[in-house]
Amino acid sequence: MAYEKVAEANQLKPGEMKRFPLQNRMILLANVGGAIYALDNKCPHLGGDLSAGVLDGTMVTCPRHGAKFDVRTGENLGNAKIAFIKMNVGNAKSFSVKTEGNDILVDLG
Ligand code: FES
Repeated sequence: MAYEKVAEANQLKPGEMKRFPLQNRMILLANVGGAIYALDNKCPHLGGDLSAGVLDGTMVTCPRHGAKFDVRTGENLGNAKIAFIKMNVGNAKSFSVKTEGNDILVDLG
């Protein structure tokens, strides 16, 4: 377990999500009612930028083909669709988050 600082709490208001660099990847942080959750920003389907999608409650929708994930767990809630073809998508990778003072820390595991 090695938590590393990713952002500061004042960078992310409730209902917002943004991506932040950590090591050699981008981490999606989502603030849901004051609770912070972290996912790999890269969609497990074809690498879409989840931070450019839509956050609705605890669900993020990928901007590329519409796959949906629970930001709390990374669980896939809806598959991708290209034209009329539905494609199965796995879960997004989720990471442990904690806050220390104003700092948001993530453990990449
Ligand atoms: S890249 Fe995210 S749904 Fe296709």
